[in-house]
Parts: sequence; structure tokens; C-alpha cells
Amino acid sequence: MGSKKFKLAVLVSGQGTNLQALIDQMEQGVLTAEISIVISNVKEAFALERANNHGIKTVFLDPKSYPDKKAFDRALIDRLQAEAIDLICLAGFMRILGKPFINSFAGRIINIHPSLLPAFPGLHPQRQALDYGVKFSGCTVHFVDEKVDSGPIILQSVVPLYDSDDEETLSRRILEQEHLIYPRAVQLIVENRLDVTTRKVTQQKT
Ligand code: GAR
Repeated sequence: MGSKKFKLAVLVSGQGTNLQALIDQMEQGVLTAEISIVISNVKEAFALERANNHGIKTVFLDPKSYPDKKAFDRALIDRLQAEAIDLICLAGFMRILGKPFINSFAGRIINIHPSLLPAFPGLHPQRQALDYGVKFSGCTVHFVDEKVDSGPIILQSVVPLYDSDDEETLSRRILEQEHLIYPRAVQLIVENRLDVTTRKVTQQKT
């Protein structure tokens, strides 16, 4: 009998390049987990097509078919619990998850955000960085807690800003780094190598 694989759920809303990075690292045997399900709140999300191309189960949960946010979150919780998921990866999932969701999977939800948190949380972080005039931005993988873009930080990568940058060029360069650190952060969790004390995450040596 083979050993039990670490099961991921990936929640998406858009193009799914981070999902693709996770899939690629799995297919190369670098990330030793499997994606049990990809869930989108957006029907046309290209991420769903990416998952289908790799034979991964996909679900579209339509927010409009639930009376309110609480009911949508409940449906999401039920779906994920039915899959016995080990870790939930938010990968461009553009919805804020409520307290019942966070509590149902405490310490088992991570997110990637395209800025060096705590700078520029929320929407359009690349534009915020450009408008502020910072010389460096980047991306952050963090555990998800009740507040938006605020949980303990697992990994970050720094990206310089150039005078010639616009939102598109900066986003593209940050995405390249996202695709490196997101699979790496997931693998650290798969290997159970992270210690979290209050909000500080440290890595155990191998
Ligand atoms: C990524 O840049 C991700 O960091 C960002 O959305 C993009 C999704 O791209 N997420 C957030 O801003 C969450 N606050 P992808 O669909 O190609 O992975």
C-alpha cells in the first residue's frame, strides 16, 4: 500500500497561474501532494480549464445561488469537509472568507498576496505599490486568519520596481516570484516543517 498523499484544495477566481505552478511542481515530483479539488466562485475562470486539463476535479460554486455570504461559505465548508482536505490554498480567490470558514479549518488555510505584507493589503496591491513610490515590493505567502491579508507570514520574495513599470509589468514580475514561493511554502507544510508561535513562523531544519 502506498503512503497517504497530502490532499490540497485550491480556491480560485481567475487565470490560475498559481494553480498551474502547484500542478507543475507536483507533476515534477517536487511538491509531494495532490490536488483533490479546485473550487471557483467565477464560472469562466481559466483556472478551471487548467485543472480540467490535468484531470483534477473542479467545482463552480455560484455565489448568486445562495441567499447570502454566510450560506455560500457554509456550502464551501461542506464541500471541503466532504473531501477530507489537509490544506486549503487560496490562489487568486477574490472573496473574503467569514469567521465560520476560518474556524472550520484553523491553521489549514494559506493565501498568496502580491505585495510584501503588511504593506498594501486588499485590492490592487501592485497599483498601490506604484502609486506609493516604493522601490521594492514582492509577494507573500501567509496563513489566513480572521482579518484580511494579515495572518502569520510563511515566505516572501522581493521584487524591485523600475521607473518604467506599470501595473502590468510589475504584476508579471511579481507573479514569477509567486510561482516559486507558493509551491515551496506548501511543501514546507506537507513536510510539517513550520512552527507557528503567535504570529511568527519559523522553519525547522531538515
Ligand atoms: C495573484 O497575483 C495573487 O497573488 C493575487 O491574485 C493573482 C491571481 O493570479 N491574489 C490576491 O490579490 C489576493 N488578495 P492567478 O489566478 O494567475 O494565480
